[in-house]
Amino acid sequence: MKSTPWWREAVIYQIYPRSFYDSNGDGEGDLAGITSHLEYVRDLGVDAIWLSPFYTSPNKDGGYDVADPRDVDPRYGDLEDAKALIKRAHELELRVLADIVPNHFSDQHEWFKAALKSGRGSSERSRFHFYDAKPDGTPPNNWVSLFGGAAWTQVSDGQFYLHLFDSSQPDLNWENPEVNADFETTLRFWLDLGIDGFRIDVAHGLVKENIHVNHPDPEGLSDALRLDVEMDTDARNALLESVPYFDRQGVHEIYRKWRTLFDSYGARDVMAVAEAWVHPPVNATRYVRADELHQVFNFDLLTAPFHSGYLFEVINRSNQLNATVNALPTWALSNHDSPRVASRLGALESQALALFVFALPGSAYIFAGQELGLPDGELQDSDRQDPSFIRSKGAIKGRDGARVPLPWSGNSTPFGFTVGTPWLPINQSWQPLSVESQSRDSKSLLNLYRSAMALRTEHLTGAGEIEWLESPLHGSLREGLLVFKRGSVTIVMNLSEQILEVDYSGQVILQSAGDLENCDGKHIVPARSTVWILN
Ligand code: GLC
Ligand code: CA
Repeated sequence: MKSTPWWREAVIYQIYPRSFYDSNGDGEGDLAGITSHLEYVRDLGVDAIWLSPFYTSPNKDGGYDVADPRDVDPRYGDLEDAKALIKRAHELELRVLADIVPNHFSDQHEWFKAALKSGRGSSERSRFHFYDAKPDGTPPNNWVSLFGGAAWTQVSDGQFYLHLFDSSQPDLNWENPEVNADFETTLRFWLDLGIDGFRIDVAHGLVKENIHVNHPDPEGLSDALRLDVEMDTDARNALLESVPYFDRQGVHEIYRKWRTLFDSYGARDVMAVAEAWVHPPVNATRYVRADELHQVFNFDLLTAPFHSGYLFEVINRSNQLNATVNALPTWALSNHDSPRVASRLGALESQALALFVFALPGSAYIFAGQELGLPDGELQDSDRQDPSFIRSKGAIKGRDGARVPLPWSGNSTPFGFTVGTPWLPINQSWQPLSVESQSRDSKSLLNLYRSAMALRTEHLTGAGEIEWLESPLHGSLREGLLVFKRGSVTIVMNLSEQILEVDYSGQVILQSAGDLENCDGKHIVPARSTVWILN
């Protein structure tokens, strides 16, 4: 019988290479810096790392504008550094996921340069979406970039090209078989170098339909469809459901082909996780059907309020929907595109929620720095580099706050991240949050994460489904307290402002706030905290 594949309930640690550790003093993190700190990652107790893009790139969108997907950008090192990183990770029993960006290339990719030179109607242009202007000279349709402004940019001979993101990120035409062939070459290239799987960027966006159709609601479109998670969720969902360039049936054919490629690596258990912003939620499960990808991100918790009824609904929904395709859910509280959870919900709340989701079935994603409780960095507008800030002329602050480098050690900024000037400033107030400060303090969040990972592996991985328990206090699941049992552990999250006393037999093995207290089978659960009780 085949054993459970490694990824099914893996904890995956997302590293934003530019912000992790700078090995050569230029102020930007790099691959050698990651390699030299992999023991820290291993000691956290995670199973794998996911590296945000480190490929050759002009870096207009944090490396998600790829100029050569089969090489390393000099700011991060070279291919030898990538090999060394993979080798060291494997020695430490960490798997490595790379980020693959199939929706678009950078305008500095040789294909796009050739497309500009070759002119209208050329095979070079057919790798992208080049169209003539409408008779009145305006763009082919009214689609809007997710970073603000029109999704079309005009080139010198009058044609326009499509870019759902920045104008430096021309969308690829997936109806051209050369595009898939090139991506399969890229997937094999990294797999042959030892990569264990992929995070697929904008996995829902590859296929565009009805390019000649204007969006019926251009007003709504221009206001609403932004990557920025601060936008109104209902408005975003309405658009995700209706735009002709997301979540088309054709994307699934691509992932079926890729699955065959992944499976050809056999016992290595190559896995892929889709970044798919889709609506309604049931659509996400299509990406993880048996012959497609292995995981799909669930973004509900990036925006969820700290509210018991809401969390109960979204967690249940994700468990149930994934079960219909025999997949397990994924959980993420932060990533490089969203405000950090400590800032969004608060310190106590984010710790309580972390312990709650680490006990759920499925895979948990941790964004580097989350284990330190980092808030969003305090930035001046002059520091900001996110294209959504630039394209919206400052109306959208963008995602740089979540991308501030990690504080490692010492008493003054930049806390060992670099001996130079960090590419984004690290606030002096982060001194108590550094890895060094928190390693010394047995009650730090970092040590709580380490304990949580170890106890998860010991008691929860593979423990099957959850069983919601009635709240003994309110007679309702949805009022201020959420309780479930999984395997031999009862997990209690107190979302209220009051200290609660609960009566579940067993020993408290972990809690997100306050001191462990057990008295006569009763347990004290501080306000806004989670406890794990071993039955
Ligand atoms: C994804 C990435 C984001 C990037 C965008 C365009 O959503 O997570 O950082 O800006 O794709 O590639
Ligand atoms: Ca560097």
